[in-house]
Amino acid sequence: MGKISVAVLGATGMIGQRFIQLLEDHPYFELGGLYASERSDGKKLSDVLKVRDHRFQDETLEMRIETLTNKAVANGNRIAFSGIPSEMAKETEAELADLGVAVFSNAGSHRMRPDVPLLIPEVNPEHIMAVRDQSTFPNGGFIVTNANCSTTGIAPPLKALDESYGLQFVSVSTYQALSGAGYPGVPSLDAVGNVIPYIGGEEEKMETEILKMLGEYQNGKFIYSQFTMLANCARVPVIDGHLESMVVKMREAPELDDLIETLSGFKGHLQGLKLPTAPERPIIVRSENNRPQPALDAFAGEPSRARGMAVTVGRVRRNEDYYKLFALSHNTLRGGAGGSVINAELALAKKLL
Ligand SMILES: NC(=O)c1ccc[n+]([C@@H]2O[C@H](COP(=O)([O-])OP(=O)(O)OC[C@H]3O[C@@H](n4cnc5c(N)ncnc54)[C@H](OP(=O)(O)O)[C@@H]3O)[C@@H](O)[C@H]2O)c1
Repeated sequence: MGKISVAVLGATGMIGQRFIQLLEDHPYFELGGLYASERSDGKKLSDVLKVRDHRFQDETLEMRIETLTNKAVANGNRIAFSGIPSEMAKETEAELADLGVAVFSNAGSHRMRPDVPLLIPEVNPEHIMAVRDQSTFPNGGFIVTNANCSTTGIAPPLKALDESYGLQFVSVSTYQALSGAGYPGVPSLDAVGNVIPYIGGEEEKMETEILKMLGEYQNGKFIYSQFTMLANCARVPVIDGHLESMVVKMREAPELDDLIETLSGFKGHLQGLKLPTAPERPIIVRSENNRPQPALDAFAGEPSRARGMAVTVGRVRRNEDYYKLFALSHNTLRGGAGGSVINAELALAKKLL
């Protein structure tokens, strides 16, 4: 089978360039076009580089950005990986799906639609079958979304705890990296030496998206999970990697060692599917008192294709019926482009492409 041609939407942005990084030597997909606004039209990728911790191949750096039009994207590309602003994603992504394109999106606009999966393959792979019920797109197109970057980091540990002990209550406080605000993002004079205890819309997203993801998909409907979820979100002067502290209460109160084993033994629900961008261990539990840290753990994940795709958990403690822990994940890889790429790998494995 030849490789599937894919387009990257928002190719000059933080997420778009992580897509390019993950796709330039992908075993199943090949870059068919890079798209952004007309401001970027005709520029080479090398002229607009934002990702500085990856060495792009010379031929990738020579690729030129084109103005995003749905007609151009749909011409020859089966997949669109979307890293465009939510305001424009609603219409653009729906039109692309109408034209027969499979859209894997990072934007927030379609996440809570009743027929669109909000997907993490290790957590809720069965939700992908919802694309079969997207009857509004008649030409083989569909939309799959990933959660916002902060929800993505807590979803695997919460899934592991929920299925073993039954979540009742979760309170999360975030320490979110600057790259989560896109490029150029937060003004430097606001960010350096500072913490901003507000990220517009983020707490509401965290409090709803996790309930959809940890819920079920049955008879064409998403049935939301019912536990109480509270979020406080802050932006901190870190480049990549969202650190999140959680307090959790569950129906059962396991011994601390059992709970730690449940987290570290979580394999995800991929049933032997070998997805190239899936980490061997979706959750890595650290026992040191000073981990996880963005500087040390943001790029956790093996094999090398899954670098930045594992969630690192640490400081797991018990206080009577409550458990306290930290989780860290890479917001533009696991929480962004990597999440969409692995979703597309699952769609291919499930013969939906
Ligand atoms: N950053 C994260 O950690 C993260 C994580 C999960 C989800 N997301 C979501 O992913 C999306 C992209 O985020 P980002 O952080 O990559 O943002 P970003 O760095 O600001 O990039 C935005 C991209 O969208 C393009 N764009 C803007 N207006 C456009 C238009 N009218 N037509 C075509 N392209 C246009 C930009 O192109 P120009 O350069 O030409 O303007 C740029 O390529 C957003 O929906 C965001 O909410 C971000």
